[in-house]
Amino acid sequence: MSQSNIKRVGVVGGGTMGFGIAINFALWGGYPTTIQDLNDRALTRSKRLIESALNLFVDESLIRPDQAAATYDKITLTTDLAQLATNSDFVTEAIVERLSDKQQLFNTLDQLCPAHTIIVSNTSGFVISDIGAGVKRQDKIGLTHYFAPPHIVPGVEVAKGPQTSDETYNTIYKLMKAAHRIPIRVEKELPGYLINRIQAAMGRETHRLWAEGVATAEEIELGIKTTFGFRMPHEGPMAHYDLAGIWKWPDDTRVPKKPDGQESPIAEKIRLRMAEGTPWFVDPEKFDQAIEVRDREYIRRLKELYSELTESS
Ligand SMILES: NC(=O)c1ccc[n+]([C@@H]2O[C@H](COP(=O)([O-])OP(=O)(O)OC[C@H]3O[C@@H](n4cnc5c(N)ncnc54)[C@H](O)[C@@H]3O)[C@@H](O)[C@H]2O)c1
Repeated sequence: MSQSNIKRVGVVGGGTMGFGIAINFALWGGYPTTIQDLNDRALTRSKRLIESALNLFVDESLIRPDQAAATYDKITLTTDLAQLATNSDFVTEAIVERLSDKQQLFNTLDQLCPAHTIIVSNTSGFVISDIGAGVKRQDKIGLTHYFAPPHIVPGVEVAKGPQTSDETYNTIYKLMKAAHRIPIRVEKELPGYLINRIQAAMGRETHRLWAEGVATAEEIELGIKTTFGFRMPHEGPMAHYDLAGIWKWPDDTRVPKKPDGQESPIAEKIRLRMAEGTPWFVDPEKFDQAIEVRDREYIRRLKELYSELTESS
């Protein structure tokens, strides 16, 4: 099914993630959106979260009051899963992170939804082939992994299961764009997929350094925010390799040493790439221009930081 055939969407679980996911579909995509949750108490909470998020958008002039009202009107809240399932061409699962619950929900949705409906999970840590192991529509399941708060943070990982069709994958990708998200293609399924694995690696080291007494929690946060965190909006680790000129360093300082024993294929792939001594993205002929663009961006942000510091002092 193509993205243009998606007319109505559903979000199962209207908690921290689900309410914001629903806002994206209703506000930017213009889709009538149904949220289903277990009881009225949960739905009352979702309703309150939606209202306050839309009010904040208006308050910050991201949207007009009439857009907020129209978005609100497009969202239906229900405890009836069948109502959601029968009225959705695309369903996002955003319930509790428990594999058995997600599997059971996927199986039920598989039975209740029309045959063309695509069902995706927002799981943080499971893989879609486990969550959807029991469904018949193996070609129409996938993963969309949002980041909190999902109605604000734009990036969404988009991944396939082993049997997800290219058509389904392209539809999911385009739908994310229609909902004003920035989809990130993940080529393989593995627990934690891409971004959570990178975040977790940093989290592990951060907690270890704190536990070893290397720095206080406050100093660790300060260090991250004022150093590589300061650069992050402009450069991640791959772009940093380019812009810091690491690709130009002498081989012995840049290329991991080849082990005496057997090298794993992954380690070998990394070593061979580093041995090339070429940037990932920057044209070596235009390196100086790229540095100037970077520095102008940093200076702009530095001015913001200085004015914040002046205001708070
Ligand atoms: N919170 C985050 O930062 C974050 C980020 C990315 C992904 N996720 C993932 O999103 C999913 C939801 O997380 P959350 O933080 O929104 O949790 P949450 O607890 O805030 O919300 C989950 C909602 O699902 C409802 N629910 C539970 N079981 C249900 C069922 N069987 N049917 C219908 N509704 C059900 C709950 O009542 C609750 O309202 C999880 O898989 C989580 O790993 C969370």
